[in-house]
Amino acid sequence: MADNIVYLNGEFKPIESACVPVMDRGFLFGDGVYEVIPVFGDKLLRVDEHLRRLQNSLRKVSMTNPHSDDEWKQLFRRLLDKNPGDDRAVYLQVTRGAYPRRDLSIDKQHPPTVFLMVLHIDAVSAESLESGISAITVDDFRWRNCDIKSVSLIANVMLKQQATEANAVDAILVRDGKVTEGTASNVFVVRRGVIVTPPKSECLLPGITRDLVIDIARDNKLAYEERDIEENELLRADEIWLTSSTREVAPVVRLNQQPVGDGKAGPMWYKVIEHYQQYKQALRDADG
Ligand code: PDD
Repeated sequence: MADNIVYLNGEFKPIESACVPVMDRGFLFGDGVYEVIPVFGDKLLRVDEHLRRLQNSLRKVSMTNPHSDDEWKQLFRRLLDKNPGDDRAVYLQVTRGAYPRRDLSIDKQHPPTVFLMVLHIDAVSAESLESGISAITVDDFRWRNCDIKSVSLIANVMLKQQATEANAVDAILVRDGKVTEGTASNVFVVRRGVIVTPPKSECLLPGITRDLVIDIARDNKLAYEERDIEENELLRADEIWLTSSTREVAPVVRLNQQPVGDGKAGPMWYKVIEHYQQYKQALRDADG
């Protein structure tokens, strides 16, 4: 297999020789933010939207964006050229850097740590998604800054582990009786022909895939609503989907050991996934 070449603070190098000091605040505090940007046919999916979300995350944690959008795009291009392949994703992480002392205070002049790598993602096809996944509902005990794409993912790790221990693939998080999101995805339900997803708030990450699914619904005149979803609506849903850059649109066919709808991917999912695959194909085929 070709070398996995990553980018770290100005240099491209094999992943084995990329090292971060132990005093890095990303390592000590989880003090950093990240993005995962899917790549189809060498084209980045909704890169401007990902860079806008990165900018928001950085601003909310009082970090300066180390690069302009054009600089980021040049870095992505160079990284992808060094790691040729089919469908993949660019992972980017910015931490507050390595300080001389372990101290929570921020020094805004201090240089950040900037890290990029290419993630291998298994090609996702409608057929591979069709069989669906199982999920459980869990209490969303996370903080109220879930709109920041923070590398501090210990709560998400714990919630995912609850799903694993219940022999489910993932967990749907519920806060104060309302659905927020998945452990690394957004949640949609379909009931009586209407697609519903919770509105953006500090309780969930504003997913790029979520917005793409909403655009697909709007452009194809499928009924949709952005509104709160009560926990008990999950139990009555005809369909439930989890969306993310790596999962795309995954139908949840079992929830808390019970079938969702008739226990199979539903008709609305088939419509949306077809448009999603077309969107990916148009990106692959686009010039430039
Ligand atoms: N996670 N919510 C959470 C908590 C997430 O971690 C993610 C994505 C999403 C979906 O966002 P998007 O559609 O922009 O991928 C929602 C990425 C894929 C990850 O951590 O690997």
